[in-house]
Amino acid sequence: MLKDTDCGTLTLSDVGRQVALAGWVHRRRDHGGIIFIDLRDRSGIVQVVFNPSYAPDAYRTADALRNEWVVCIRGRVERRPPGTENPSLPTGQVEVHALACQILNPSRPPPFYINEDTEVDEALRLRYRYLYLRRQRLQRNLELRHRVVKFIRDWLSARGFWEVETPILTKSTPEGARDYLVPSRLYPGCFYALPQSPQQLKQLLMVAGLERYFQIARCFRDEDLRADRQPEFTQLDLEMSFVEEEDILNLMESLFTDLVEQVTPHKRLRKPFPRLTYAEAIAKYGTDKPDLRFGMELADFTDIARQCQFEVFRRVVQQGGVVKGFAAPGYADCPRRQIEELTTLAKSKGATGLVTLALGQPGLSLEALTPEQVRSAVARHFTIEQVQEMARRAGARPGDLLLIVAGEPATTNAALSALRTEMGARLGLADPNQVVFAFVTQFPLFEWNAEERRWESAHHPFTAPRDEDLPLLEADPGRVRSKAYDMVCNGYEVASGSIRIHNREVQERIFRILGYSPEEAQKRFGHLLEAFEYGAPPHGGIAPGIDRIVMVLANEASLREVIAFPKTQSAQDLLFGAPSEVSEKQLRELHLAVVHPETAPSGPPPS
Ligand code: AMO
Repeated sequence: MLKDTDCGTLTLSDVGRQVALAGWVHRRRDHGGIIFIDLRDRSGIVQVVFNPSYAPDAYRTADALRNEWVVCIRGRVERRPPGTENPSLPTGQVEVHALACQILNPSRPPPFYINEDTEVDEALRLRYRYLYLRRQRLQRNLELRHRVVKFIRDWLSARGFWEVETPILTKSTPEGARDYLVPSRLYPGCFYALPQSPQQLKQLLMVAGLERYFQIARCFRDEDLRADRQPEFTQLDLEMSFVEEEDILNLMESLFTDLVEQVTPHKRLRKPFPRLTYAEAIAKYGTDKPDLRFGMELADFTDIARQCQFEVFRRVVQQGGVVKGFAAPGYADCPRRQIEELTTLAKSKGATGLVTLALGQPGLSLEALTPEQVRSAVARHFTIEQVQEMARRAGARPGDLLLIVAGEPATTNAALSALRTEMGARLGLADPNQVVFAFVTQFPLFEWNAEERRWESAHHPFTAPRDEDLPLLEADPGRVRSKAYDMVCNGYEVASGSIRIHNREVQERIFRILGYSPEEAQKRFGHLLEAFEYGAPPHGGIAPGIDRIVMVLANEASLREVIAFPKTQSAQDLLFGAPSEVSEKQLRELHLAVVHPETAPSGPPPS
């Protein structure tokens, strides 16, 4: 080894030791005759001092060094002179006095700062990913990811789970996205599909009698991307036989409690994990992935709105809409411009507008509130009793701001959920050091796709209906609840799972409701239907998204910060330049001809 010590590990107890270090020049400072190098390796940074009077050769070499050059340094660890310690650096009590310095490789000036966590244009960051990954924040994120995955592997192994790999070249398993397809050379016109998840495979492993399976599994989905979605991502895929919903939820609660407490002990974890039904989540938070680090629960004002003098609200209620809102604590005096921003946010989620009521001053009593103390463009349409009742329901106190949206339930909930998240951030309630997991249960089995006029699975088609709702299957699919559950954390859906159907007849009924003809169901899922005829055990599972969990634990806002080589929002790999065109020969071998669309530019995307 060219090194015997990691830079970031040096402390006062090493003073007097001779060490060999190797790494990158993080920063170089020339202090009139003495050169200081911050030397960086994976473990951290240490200051190296080059003094011409006791190591002239090393000094001359250091004079030539520039940022990101790779060097190997031999020197002695010394206590820093009093007054020059750097308490913000773990090695800040010491420095290394260089005796020898060897340049292992020079570097071109990097296209952005590695030694400062400044914003870098996304294209540049991804094009030079190997340089961006040198930044300490990214290295800590990858280290955290490694520790999370290792913890999960060890924890599950100790509880009798076996890790089993399943194929990447396989057949379509619907999870609601488009498939990535791989053309077959040997079978013209035939394609493999990359798995959207190993869903059917893990169920088949249960039929195979494995009982407890897990896999750190790569999944591929061609879907619209967002900050919390990548076209390929990693799940902890897990499945168990002879279990009920409670067993899976308890297992997850104990896994993630142990994980957070042991891997990120500086985080505050809420215990036990709250549980709420899908209906409760929508009613209280307007979303099925609420951020429970703060309250600000939604209250329903529909009955009050029906009786008020505000024509807009009354019309919404007459048309079957809802009027809901919540209280932002201490926000009554916020500047007009901030209300305008909140209105724009509400509108961006489809709401027609936002009504706000500023409730007097802090210190007043709600009961004593007078109409003059309520500040709002629409205050005159409400009696003071109506305002007080809305405030009571929302848990508001004088000095708070009531935010109210009226409209069709789905958009009203979506708008209020976005407003609640925004207010959580503005009021500093979304504490980055707090982790609040929660389970959401009793999802509907189906969702109505109004555009295509058909039922879709809310989770996936292999999810079992609740036993008591089975009779409703054909008669009223919209009312059937499922045995699906989600785990959410700080406003993200971090896992999804269900108890599965293990019976051919029920599975066939579901496929029928989803619009598959018996022939099509047989063609696409015949292998699974057949397997169910050979003693399939009752089974269920879940799949936490590894990327999303690490993102939350690392306090990052984008998955790209916790994935070594992520893709852009438009599914490009800018480092390799993928996707890319292939040769005519390759196309011929795959029996493919490219038909360039008239409406879209042909050829690979610009890099
Ligand atoms: P689902 O599709 O809900 O369920 O996915 C499970 C979890 O995987 C993560 N996830 C993603 N992460 C990053 N980018 C994406 N594009 C992406 N899509 C999903 C989320 C999500 O909660 N087979 C079922 C699981 C099961 O029933 O056991 C499934 O894949 O954290």
